[in-house]
Amino acid sequence: MTHLEFPKAFTWGAATASYQIEGAWKEDGKGESIWDRFTHQPHRILNGDTGDIACDHYHHMLEDVTLMKDLGLQSYRFSISWPRILPDGTGRVEPRGLDFYDRLVDELLNTGIRPNATLNHWDFPQALQDKGGWANRASADWFTDYARVVFEKLADRIPQWATHNEPFVVAFSGYGDGSFAPGIASYHQALQATHHLHLAHGQTVQLYHQFGYPGEIGIVLNLAPFKPKTDDPADVAAAIRIEMFINQLFMDPIFKGQYPDELMAWLDGMTPEIQDGDMGVINQPIDFLGVNYYFSQIASFNPHGLFKLKTEPKVDPGWTITDKGWGICPSGLTELLTQIQEDYTLPPLYITENGTALGEPVDDTGFVNDQGRINYLRAHFQAAHQAIQKGVDLRGYYVWSLMDNFEWAEGYDLRFGLINVNFNDPERKRTPKASFEWYRDVIKHNAVPA
Ligand code: FCB
Repeated sequence: MTHLEFPKAFTWGAATASYQIEGAWKEDGKGESIWDRFTHQPHRILNGDTGDIACDHYHHMLEDVTLMKDLGLQSYRFSISWPRILPDGTGRVEPRGLDFYDRLVDELLNTGIRPNATLNHWDFPQALQDKGGWANRASADWFTDYARVVFEKLADRIPQWATHNEPFVVAFSGYGDGSFAPGIASYHQALQATHHLHLAHGQTVQLYHQFGYPGEIGIVLNLAPFKPKTDDPADVAAAIRIEMFINQLFMDPIFKGQYPDELMAWLDGMTPEIQDGDMGVINQPIDFLGVNYYFSQIASFNPHGLFKLKTEPKVDPGWTITDKGWGICPSGLTELLTQIQEDYTLPPLYITENGTALGEPVDDTGFVNDQGRINYLRAHFQAAHQAIQKGVDLRGYYVWSLMDNFEWAEGYDLRFGLINVNFNDPERKRTPKASFEWYRDVIKHNAVPA
């Protein structure tokens, strides 16, 4: 069998996020997060699930690092829970919260695994939500102050930092359609939140660089390629609109220091308040860009839809639609990476998330023979390899996710893990899936079967 080899320094990783795995939602002085509040409200989450216990990673951290070691993981991407560190969002620091991440980082380093930390993977402090959350301009300063506290404790040992994970989702699922915490349905607030997320990012990058910490800082965006359904100009315009809304609304301020004019005109009446100097703060040089890739979409004109368009999943020949309703489209990954590299002057890229949930059955022992996930990952790794061949400066790949976890509004129904977690078991027994063994081989050989 032939193999596609990856560049020598390529990093293979896996990712998780604090609220999705930690549990211990009110232990050791942790404050309430917007996801704690949201999941305890009726009808927000499928089956009424919450992250109160989740994978109980807070108490299984050592076991989880041992599993990572077994997998041969080179880097672990996790996120830090803001209210675990600052229970009220600002001011008082909870040392037990900081200690948890301190121990995790030391454990990873002792094991030879590079920590990669995200400051905001959505579990925002409820105390600050009560003051307007990301819709309040002060959120940029709240976030920078939180980042400072975390950097002071951990920046000497964490070589890679991301400010936000998928700010699009924070703004538009959290404040736009309200399907995610904090559950606000106002596109005007979503746009304002977008701007403040940008500002928080820019200020934090500035701070990190000013202090001369030894590592790198960047951001993680969810990006996707969009194709028009037909060559009818109305469909073509719809595809351009959705691309501006999801990709350029985030890429342009960061890499060009401006919002896309056409989109702002389209959003007339909802556009955010921007102060003099903001765009310069946002347009900071960053050390890497993290790309989360899950799907490609086809757009068409629809007079009744939001932004007068509708989308449907794009599926590559021979592939299907996943349990989450996402079309499997490995070719879209190559396309996306080559496209953004062409459109922007970019720092090195990482795939910071990619993975799938296919509802593959668990046997009596807890084992999952997830050939579907293996096929999915193989095809996406090949697509990433092809992008590298085409000149894309891709430095690493993080599989979502290390283990099954709390999948936001879908609770525990969707299983993205390389490791099965039994959520009915108080001990949350972990069992590596077939894909775990397969990925171990990929990492070991730094190559993917062609
Ligand atoms: C991404 C999120 C991540 C996970 C995957 C499936 O949008 O960043 O937390 O839920 O989707």
